[in-house]
Amino acid sequence: MSSEKRFSGQVAVVTGASGGIGSATAHRFAEDGANLVLVDLDGTSLEEVAARVERAGANVMMIAADVSKSDEVERYVSQGMDKFGRIDSFFNNAGILGPWNNLFEYQEEDFDRVLSVNVKGVWLGMKFVAQAMMQSGTGAIVNTASVAGLSGTPPVFAYGASKHAVVGMTKSAAMSLGPHDIRVNAVCPAVIDTPMGEAVLRGGNPDDIEAAKDRLSEVYPLGRIGQPEDVAGLVTYLCSDDAGFVTGGIYPVDGGSRAR
Ligand SMILES: NC(=O)c1ccc[n+]([C@@H]2O[C@H](COP(=O)([O-])OP(=O)(O)OC[C@H]3O[C@@H](n4cnc5c(N)ncnc54)[C@H](O)[C@@H]3O)[C@@H](O)[C@H]2O)c1
Repeated sequence: MSSEKRFSGQVAVVTGASGGIGSATAHRFAEDGANLVLVDLDGTSLEEVAARVERAGANVMMIAADVSKSDEVERYVSQGMDKFGRIDSFFNNAGILGPWNNLFEYQEEDFDRVLSVNVKGVWLGMKFVAQAMMQSGTGAIVNTASVAGLSGTPPVFAYGASKHAVVGMTKSAAMSLGPHDIRVNAVCPAVIDTPMGEAVLRGGNPDDIEAAKDRLSEVYPLGRIGQPEDVAGLVTYLCSDDAGFVTGGIYPVDGGSRAR
């Protein structure tokens, strides 16, 4: 039997790599044989993730960068290319929730900040990474949208807007990049057990997170909220050869909540 892993010899770039979903997905890529470029705002927060990913056998590069700044995105792509010479998979995942405010309460500077990270950051990532992927003639990109990109979320007004934009950008990019054999898909998690997931739960019930978690779990047909590994499994599948004919797809990872 071959010991070849599905991403052996390949390179994956993960943004928001210090966070719950990013770190779990980086680890899954490493377990499946990939080398990793880990990107997050604060480089020191990446050290723990890098150590774990290295223990899984990966060569790792950590890069502190703000995904909403064009020059910093260009830099993380060129530093990754300088070190590894190729990018095969890109998990375009960094994002922020922004304040818990509705249509009327939302402040302009907050709206701009959420769109800058969640929309502009995702666009810039695709723009620069796709050009690097074109050099090797193939690649797979997965953008992190949300179930908030599939239906209205009045209490987090700008977040919902930003994730609908990620869905739209994913479809347009899939059409532009298909002829270059670069696939682009999006994942749409429901509430996942991470710092951001906790912020969502706290928005609904600031006094008792555990009660909020239990209540939400009852709403999801699978009877629990998601774990970061649930998202990692879908992302790595979408980046693998098994998904070779899959592009422009928008995939909920939501415990069945949208089946209702
Ligand atoms: N956790 C959930 O319930 C949930 C649900 C649906 C979608 N999502 C999406 O999943 C993605 C990951 O979220 P998570 O739950 O792991 O959250 P998290 O807060 O644990 O991680 C997000 C990471 O992104 C980084 N980041 C934020 N702004 C950045 C910037 N400008 N440049 C570089 N890095 C930046 C943060 O430092 C953090 O490490 C986000 O796009 C989020 O919107 C999360």
